[in-house]
Amino acid sequence: MNQFIHLTSLNHSCIIKVDRVPEIVHWGARIAQIDADLLLSTERPISQARLDVDIPLSLCPELGSGHFNAPGIEGHRNGHDWAPVFHTTDTQANDHQAVFTLQDDIANLELTIEVLLDHDSDVLQKRISVRNLGSEVYTLNKLSSTLTLPHHANELMTFHGRWCQEFQNQRQALEHGGFMQENRRGRTSHENFPGLFVGSKGFSEQQGNVWGFHLGWSGNHQLRADVKSDGRRFVQAGELLLAGEIQLAENDIYQTPWLYGVYSNQGLNGISDRFHTFVRHSILRFPTQKPRPVHLNTWEGIYFDHNPDYIMKMASEAADMGVERFIIDDGWFVGRDHERAALGDWYLDEKKYPNGLEPVIEHVNTLGMEFGLWVEPEMVSQDSNLFRAHPDWVLGLSGYQQPSGRWQYVLDLQNPECFQYLFDRLDDLLTRYNICYLKWDMNRELVQPGHQGKAAVRGQTQALYQLLDALTSAHPSVEIESCSSGGGRIDFEILKRTHRFWASDCNDALERQSIQRGMSYFFPPEVMGAHIGPGECHSTNRRHSINMRGVTALGGHMGVELDPVKETAEEKQAFAHYIQLHKQHRHLLHSGRTFRIDSANKDQYIYGVVGANQDGQEELLITVCQLAMPEYALPSPLRISHIDVHARYQLNIVEMPKTSFQLMKQAPKWLDKTLELNGDNLKEVGITLPILDPESALIVHLKKI
Ligand code: DGJ
Repeated sequence: MNQFIHLTSLNHSCIIKVDRVPEIVHWGARIAQIDADLLLSTERPISQARLDVDIPLSLCPELGSGHFNAPGIEGHRNGHDWAPVFHTTDTQANDHQAVFTLQDDIANLELTIEVLLDHDSDVLQKRISVRNLGSEVYTLNKLSSTLTLPHHANELMTFHGRWCQEFQNQRQALEHGGFMQENRRGRTSHENFPGLFVGSKGFSEQQGNVWGFHLGWSGNHQLRADVKSDGRRFVQAGELLLAGEIQLAENDIYQTPWLYGVYSNQGLNGISDRFHTFVRHSILRFPTQKPRPVHLNTWEGIYFDHNPDYIMKMASEAADMGVERFIIDDGWFVGRDHERAALGDWYLDEKKYPNGLEPVIEHVNTLGMEFGLWVEPEMVSQDSNLFRAHPDWVLGLSGYQQPSGRWQYVLDLQNPECFQYLFDRLDDLLTRYNICYLKWDMNRELVQPGHQGKAAVRGQTQALYQLLDALTSAHPSVEIESCSSGGGRIDFEILKRTHRFWASDCNDALERQSIQRGMSYFFPPEVMGAHIGPGECHSTNRRHSINMRGVTALGGHMGVELDPVKETAEEKQAFAHYIQLHKQHRHLLHSGRTFRIDSANKDQYIYGVVGANQDGQEELLITVCQLAMPEYALPSPLRISHIDVHARYQLNIVEMPKTSFQLMKQAPKWLDKTLELNGDNLKEVGITLPILDPESALIVHLKKI
């Protein structure tokens, strides 16, 4: 065999050469057609003092064939069959997908490699499965998806973070050696988001060639970007398997999670644009197509202090501000007076709610709002009836004392009785009460993830997916939020079963700006929960004006998280204002194309959205957020990208912060006027901006006329 498979999408091509094994020779801009001579022109020289044959960097590189970097597969059969070498036995392909079957007749293993290129979004998907063809058990240590990159992909952008500081990024050169991320936390994690970008040196929001990657998986993972000593480079991602986690009996199959990849020649904007399109079309399944309702979540308002009369007052105030969904957070179930007890006992606390939850829900519904409830089903507190009755349901290793996290333990979801108990409790709540929305929390990592003594992160993760799937099929209209101490479980695979992420527990608008920016590379705004918090942020003690808080929350799926009863009339009016602004533009915000503009000032974030408003008219909303003291005395003009250079636009400021008038004694005269300008003027010359104080933001609105 010696042939090319050419996968195509709207803008891109992925060309795979199939010889003994399949190997990507191009993944990037669209190629009209493959020339016959490409077979010859892609042949590599063989360098001196190395192996005597060419070693392909295949879709599953093998140690046994002379690939000295990380192999795609690792495992053994009682110490044997540890260096498989495959040959392709079958290739099935059309323009958009290819399935390769490979076999090693000595190690008795079969690989199936699927590569899909989605036409509309240009997103590439890859996964691999291995089947044990031998009669003896095969212990699989690793099976990862490998995607190759061209030599000019030499700068890496990776993500790190922690509680209250998700999606932070860092850059490094990708030359001579590589980068490796290993996540052993048992959830997607704040620390190791499974995604990275590799691009041409200096790639930015708007410029450069970039390849973006995301592993859709909510458990452990391994992510690698590597450069071989011959200059070839690749990204590899897959599940991180713990010792003995996968033992394949004869004919058993292990399948990897999907690795998603996308190319852009317009910097990071081209990446996020495509990921968002893909998420909207292929991942998200909203039960009903309706505007995303504005939330009020009780957590930072009342914490564990639940009093139904007071909560009803909060609901009335919330409805007056324009809130559309009211969510009772942690603290509603029996014995949950603080964070050290009661997880697992998913029954209403009748001391706190003597008349039941129904009157509260009825009140919320009468006010025209949906009702939502917080749960944390995977967890159990030591001080709980569930733990007292079933201490053996804890995910762990017997004989050891594992550390608790937030004074709680994880339940073993692979235990069928435990699974059934959780399903029954949640099913009962969703049947008994008119609950439209569950905030599904998960507040600790897996330390000894043992099921019947064996490592079980994969099993636990799959059982979680099954629990979510079972509940969704029993209650298809309920929406679910994936929360994990904020953004600890944010990925494409959990999003197939949920509808919103709680991006972070940090409601500090300044911190949120970078958290939301990082998240926005992968996820569209309608799934990014963003709340206006109290004036003094609970997690940082920083104070922000309502302008900074309102504008920051406006860019996601908006909510409010505070006690409206205690807020002043002036603050409440301000919340109502931002809620109204959000509602006015949410069609555009939640369906348009998100982009970011490179700013000359490193402490300024500029981001926007372009698309059709409800009447089908093209509009743009652009936010300029001044994070810290301006770097220069004058801001650089705002040159507006994503605009039709042949069209004319009406432009005005829809949100302007109060400025100190210390930094600026005179604002540009146009600020309170409506301007009309041609697209090319806006794009090439731009508009002047006022000098913004640190931690304030403005919003420009443009409408095509
Ligand atoms: C962690 C979540 O991220 C918070 O929003 C809140 O729901 C608490 N848990 C409740 O315990």
